[in-house]
Amino acid sequence: MKKFYIETFGCQMNAHDSEKVIGTLIDKGYGQVESPEEADLVLYNTCSIRDKAEQKVFNRLQEFKRKNKGKTFGVLGCVAQQEGERIFEKAPHVSLVCGSASYNHLPQLLVQLETGNRRVTGLSLDTEDTFETPMTRRDNPHRAYITIIEGCDKACAYCVVPYTRGPERSRTSESVLRETRELAELGYSEIQLLGQNVNSYRDPSPAALTFAQLLDAVGRVDGIRRVRFTTSHPRDFGKDIIDAMDANPNLCNQVHLPVQSGSNNVLAAMQRLYTREDYMRRIEWMKNSHRNIAISTDIIVGFPGESERDFEQTLALLDEVEYDSIFSFKYSQRPNTPALKLDDHIPDGEKGRRLTILQEKQRTIQLRRNADYIGHVEEVMVEGFNKATGQWIGRTTQHKTLNFTTPQPTEESLTGRYLSVRVLRAGPNSLVGEAV
Ligand code: SAH
Ligand code: SF4
Ligand code: F3S
Repeated sequence: MKKFYIETFGCQMNAHDSEKVIGTLIDKGYGQVESPEEADLVLYNTCSIRDKAEQKVFNRLQEFKRKNKGKTFGVLGCVAQQEGERIFEKAPHVSLVCGSASYNHLPQLLVQLETGNRRVTGLSLDTEDTFETPMTRRDNPHRAYITIIEGCDKACAYCVVPYTRGPERSRTSESVLRETRELAELGYSEIQLLGQNVNSYRDPSPAALTFAQLLDAVGRVDGIRRVRFTTSHPRDFGKDIIDAMDANPNLCNQVHLPVQSGSNNVLAAMQRLYTREDYMRRIEWMKNSHRNIAISTDIIVGFPGESERDFEQTLALLDEVEYDSIFSFKYSQRPNTPALKLDDHIPDGEKGRRLTILQEKQRTIQLRRNADYIGHVEEVMVEGFNKATGQWIGRTTQHKTLNFTTPQPTEESLTGRYLSVRVLRAGPNSLVGEAV
């Protein structure tokens, strides 16, 4: 049997793509191995969102080559799409370059490789296809990703995704619900709906469900207890999503709503298509919900032209919203993006200074938010056991990590079970408690 090894970087979309690619390869008679040394085919599913992503990929490909003479190498994902055939020039040992919009063609591409083709590509972005396969090999038996929309039609000035993942294509609600039911029958209880912008979901089937209706329907499938979704774009985020959460307890108390900046000047320069006031209206919907919704966001500091005053507006936004968590990044220039044309770049040291200030402020906010849970009993889905600390690892509906012990030691595994846990202590990034 031919053997393959795959390494994956990037977002949840990429992680889930790899699950589908793995399933496709296994279906074609390949076996998965845990190290490149054992493999005939070495695949690298890449991310291009920040920093010197391309250079890192080429460095890793060099390293693969040095240690693994005579194997077949393939580059998948966002760097594959972005760099295309240039990869063959810079890394001549690579034989396959395929972006996520072409994964449907992987079986044919594999045949071409097997019949001795040295350079095989899947790089067209001109597609209506979504990558759906019943073969998906999920690596978690309780919690499953389901893609509902691929690609992105926005044009945020800093972002490579529209160029690496192509135009928006939605899956039919029928196919999403069928997959959910199959997963529920296999014992999955948590579903995470995925897309670069799930709020742009347009059901191509006659049912014509809106995103909020689809969310609700997934949460009503027998056996499903938790539904999450990521990522939301503020401009397309409708009040109907919060109404659905209010009406359906299986939809988790969690919304990730990337703001990027608290300054209207910067938001405009970023081409984000909303103002701070538009964004705050959506936050108000969440705060007015009778659910206790945990809100998280993404922030970029040091976008070209971001003044000290702009940055202070982002800091003030953190105080106003009181996020449960944030992902924050220094702006980095990306190939093909509109922001390349902007001047007025912020020096790296200054970006670093702003990032530190932002993260310190958020740490204090998180400590305070998490302290509010002390004394409360929360339901967790158990994700595993940490041998080093002797604690079980649980996840609350708000997606907070709640590490806990049981009153008596248990021999059996609790992983995948739902338990009530009393919160006893709180840190900035996790809670500690005891099962009740
Ligand atoms: N579709 C998602 C974004 C995916 S990228 C959305 O619209 O929210 C995840 C995060 O990476 C973005 O929200 C942004 O904060 C960050 N990011 C994207 N491009 C970046 C760049 N060039 N420099 C720094 N951070 C970036
Ligand atoms: Fe990138 Fe903007 Fe699309 Fe998100 S919405 S993937 S940040 S272009
Ligand atoms: Fe990275 Fe591509 Fe995801 S650039 S963040 S893997 S969409």
